[in-house]
Amino acid sequence: MLQARNIKKSFHQQPVLKNIDLTMEKGDVVVILGPSGSGKTTFLRCLNHLETADEGELELAGEQYNLAAVTKKEVHQLRQKTAFVFQHYNLFRNKTALENVTEGLIYGRSIAKEEALRSSREALAKVGLAEYADYYPHELSGGQQQRVGIARGIALKPEVILFDEPTSALDPELIGEVLAVMKQLADEGVTMIIVTHEMGFAREVASKVVFMDEGEVVESGPPASFFATPKEERTRRFLSRISG
Ligand SMILES: Nc1ncnc2c1ncn2[C@@H]1O[C@H](COP(=O)(O)OP(=O)(O)OP(=O)(O)O)[C@@H](O)[C@H]1O
Ligand SMILES: [Mg+2]
Repeated sequence: MLQARNIKKSFHQQPVLKNIDLTMEKGDVVVILGPSGSGKTTFLRCLNHLETADEGELELAGEQYNLAAVTKKEVHQLRQKTAFVFQHYNLFRNKTALENVTEGLIYGRSIAKEEALRSSREALAKVGLAEYADYYPHELSGGQQQRVGIARGIALKPEVILFDEPTSALDPELIGEVLAVMKQLADEGVTMIIVTHEMGFAREVASKVVFMDEGEVVESGPPASFFATPKEERTRRFLSRISG
């Protein structure tokens, strides 16, 4: 359902993504782990063309894209098929939770206001924020703001949602509520790629764990074997560092 092949990207002649491949099926949850600077964010950004890859192909929901040379129309298509949830929520400060969700539907997708409102309320309910539709970001906790960020993603009904460290800006006591929403989406069969350092979540929810280091996929596999019997020395070193 999603297949990325041979994705390469350099910044200032420095290779940041060397040759990334990723295959996933509908309903899969891929968790990407890796040290800072390993290219995790750049990889997600290349997938939905927030960043232009130097090379690489993407097959997504039956369409083929040459990521190094996408047309305007293809970029538009890619954005329709993907949603991005950012570390720092990126909500509009002067819009309510509901307006933050409808915005992308009305202006990004040209969906009629009535229908946009309906699917936005549905998305807010799904993340447990039905009662907070009229709150402004500053009236919400970090965890609630991030759940608005997720509602904004699911309202778009994308083929895949890309999460870049969705909980790493949150106070520890707020992380659980956001992970719970993501777990619920996983249970409902939403296809997701999640960059995170939350190992418990990866173990429990991922269909596949991918470990990146220095712009390469070092190792990947189902969480049970990935965590219990990592094959590569670099993976073992990373896991022992993370688990302290
Ligand atoms: N726009 C850019 N211009 C120049 N260099 C960049 C740019 N974006 C990323 N890089 C470099 O690419 C490398 C990979 O960055 P990236 O943000 O993808 O890593 P990451 O794995 O997401 O790290 P972190 O865990 O800290 O978020 C880093 O060395 C970074 O400095
Ligand atoms: Mg990053």
